Amino acid sequence: MKILLVGSGGREHALGLGLHADPECTELHVAPGNPGIAEFAQCHPLDIKDNSAIVDLALQLDVELVVVGPEVPLVNGVADLLRAAGIAVFGPSKAAAQLEGSKNFAKEVMADAGVPTAHSFTCTTQEEMEKALDAFGAPYVVKDDGLAAGKGVVVTRDRQEALDHALACKRVVIEEFLDGPEVSLFGISDGKTIIAMQPAQDFKRAYDNDSGPNTGGMGAYSPLPWAPSDIIEDTYTKILAPMIIEMAARGTPFVGLLYAGLALTNHGTRVIEFNARFGDPETQVLIPLLKTPLAGLLYKAATRNLEGTKLEWSNETAVTVVLAAEGYPSAPKSGGVIGELPSIERVSIFHAGTSRNENALVATGGRVLTVTGIGSDLTEARDRAYRAISHISLDGSFYRSDIALNASVAEKGN
Ligand code: AMP
Ligand code: GLY
Repeated sequence: MKILLVGSGGREHALGLGLHADPECTELHVAPGNPGIAEFAQCHPLDIKDNSAIVDLALQLDVELVVVGPEVPLVNGVADLLRAAGIAVFGPSKAAAQLEGSKNFAKEVMADAGVPTAHSFTCTTQEEMEKALDAFGAPYVVKDDGLAAGKGVVVTRDRQEALDHALACKRVVIEEFLDGPEVSLFGISDGKTIIAMQPAQDFKRAYDNDSGPNTGGMGAYSPLPWAPSDIIEDTYTKILAPMIIEMAARGTPFVGLLYAGLALTNHGTRVIEFNARFGDPETQVLIPLLKTPLAGLLYKAATRNLEGTKLEWSNETAVTVVLAAEGYPSAPKSGGVIGELPSIERVSIFHAGTSRNENALVATGGRVLTVTGIGSDLTEARDRAYRAISHISLDGSFYRSDIALNASVAEKGN
């Protein structure tokens, strides 16, 4: 099977390796890709905002499957165009991608599907916003209704800051603060059947001890030794399956990866958000642990044929740590030269924001590399990831030193 993977980040590097490892994948093309991906797949320059360029490339390469990594082309409707051209695609239609593209839409679907989430108001006027803020009180949670590249959500105790953010958005969802650990749990869906993956945890803040600004994610680990033993079953029954049934009933079946961002509160699991694609950096811990061949799995989803499929997982643990460029997330510096990457057993280094200049590898993005260590437990996986990342040189770069630390201490105590 010839496959085209769209995207260029650490997530696509991990997905690409997974697809490449499946003997069913005979030819892997990635657009635009990155220097890490270029080591095992053919990369093609592409502007991911240009839907027709994506369709033209898929037709020209005569691929049997397109896997779309990032949300932007999905929300722009690239999956509809590919399907209309007769190409199987792993990724939701424009209508179904609204689960990520509009917070208000996601809330409406959750209400109709009976899926537990934070109580919320959708507001457009200052009066509505102030009323909603005062109804919930601090901490305030204010979300831009539309896609905002990770900058749409403000959680603050400062009412003025909350109101300023609300006023800066056209339409906002203001909601109840959910207290409890956050978990990312992904479902692979063919529109009728959805299969839950094992949970992962992502670290969103830039600096240690969950301080500093929100980012796209600074690290992740999986599985979660502390999570309730029924978390997969419970999330499937109460959240993933009802969402897939509701989307199909609306005539907009969700085919692709449904990302549930969850808060495990004292009152049960609540949905914080949905995304319509694999999470980054969670994918960099999930794909290395997934034993089920990825190309066949995603093809079955894309061709509505998932029923009866079961996922097989390694019983090991993975921890990934993101190396970020100086100034990330507000003003990342690009152009820095990255030293030679270490080669350490059971460690994978995924490229996220890199390019190759003559002979040097240079940083081109805020999140530059993602370093995943695999081990028999969190301590071993962390040791490997941190040993590797400490050997990478990039002036001004930084990484969090506490990814999976608490969970690893708790695991050792047990
Ligand atoms: P999002 O962009 O929707 O992933 O939100 C970014 C982050 O804001 C989440 O990972 C949470 O840490 C936080 N957040 C979003 N909604 C809530 C909520 N209702 N209660 C508490 N924290 C939230
Ligand atoms: N890890 C967060 C995201 O992919 O949105």
